[in-house]
Amino acid sequence: MSGITKQDGPVAVTGASGYIGSRIVEDLLNQGYEVNACVRDSSNNKKVDHLIELGKKASESDVNLFEGDLFEKGSYDGAFTGCAAVIHAGATVGFNRETPQEVYDGCFTENEHVIESVKKSGTIKRFVFTSSFAAVAHPRPEGYVFDEGDWCGDNVEAYKGAWTEENISKNRDIAYAMAKANTEKMIYKMAESEQNFEAISINPLHVIGPLMTENHNQFFSWQFFIWQLLQGNNFGSLDGKQIRSDRMLWNMVDVRDVAKAHRMATESNNAKNGSRYILSATDRSGELFTWELQKKLRELFPDIKDIGGERMENNKPIKDTYDSPRSYCKKAIQELGLSTYSIEETLKETGESYKRLGLL
Ligand SMILES: NC(=O)c1ccc[n+]([C@@H]2O[C@H](COP(=O)([O-])OP(=O)(O)OC[C@H]3O[C@@H](n4cnc5c(N)ncnc54)[C@H](OP(=O)(O)O)[C@@H]3O)[C@@H](O)[C@H]2O)c1
Repeated sequence: MSGITKQDGPVAVTGASGYIGSRIVEDLLNQGYEVNACVRDSSNNKKVDHLIELGKKASESDVNLFEGDLFEKGSYDGAFTGCAAVIHAGATVGFNRETPQEVYDGCFTENEHVIESVKKSGTIKRFVFTSSFAAVAHPRPEGYVFDEGDWCGDNVEAYKGAWTEENISKNRDIAYAMAKANTEKMIYKMAESEQNFEAISINPLHVIGPLMTENHNQFFSWQFFIWQLLQGNNFGSLDGKQIRSDRMLWNMVDVRDVAKAHRMATESNNAKNGSRYILSATDRSGELFTWELQKKLRELFPDIKDIGGERMENNKPIKDTYDSPRSYCKKAIQELGLSTYSIEETLKETGESYKRLGLL
């Protein structure tokens, strides 16, 4: 089956108000697509005004707002009618607010409703799902380079018995990874049995890049932690409390590249049912330990006096960081034709967007 073109009809985007979803809407409009942007509440100005503005700026395309909720069966029927493709970026991501079971339901069970609406439309040729690198990663020795052939359910013994369906309700990370992997498997199977659409996944790693609105500064998101570093707080510390480890390998990708890859997956003749694309650093320059990230931010923001990092002693981290997750965005570049921002551009423009929003 071939990919879509803008002549085939509108593209619907779920989670259109979100950090990634908004950039997907922007990219589609820039390419001249008509976009059916699905939001939960179209009267919430903080979440939709920037989408309306994007529509006004676009010269040859338009954005139509539709309301839909993942927890309501059939609520995307209207938005998907007549569409050529759906990009499903909406999810109950659980930035530490939802319970693990709610995360699983928001990221898996409720996706069945979305697929039902896709099947009903009869016009949709491509369904592109925002999965996650969580559906790829699993315990491996340090330095292991993950690729699209990896699944989070591989090497279950290494989870010391924790990788079970019963633990979904107890562990947010297991709930999230299993939900994304199970959704991928479900959509590929559905598409195969229906024969009239193809399902493709995008698996992003640590997404950063410029924010469009203050609402994109979601608590516990990667961009939120970059903001914290730029305010002089060590990674994972908030109001003097350590809310997560300060050591990590940041494997970063620009939100605009993630968005572009979604659209390219609807268009590409190389992509097919079951194709998945990791969106991560393209090379080692985008894979930085927290102390290396701090060094890079200091170079990029010489005007900021104090930039946070991790705990150091004699200019060295007090502990080594586990060298994972390593992975390179190669398949999306080769198969979809994606070109990407440099890590310097991404970090700089992330900081600049915080300044523009008056948050820095
Ligand atoms: N950011 C990352 O680093 C990253 C990495 C890997 C994968 N992902 C995936 O990327 C997708 C988008 O994430 P994001 O970073 O853009 O998060 P975000 O800014 O929080 O966006 C989430 C979107 O989902 C919508 N949503 C939440 N609950 C919903 C519900 N019950 N019904 C309908 N829509 C609902 C939100 O709408 P409201 O505006 O109405 O709340 C929002 O538009 C998610 O699937 C996430 O798992 C993100």
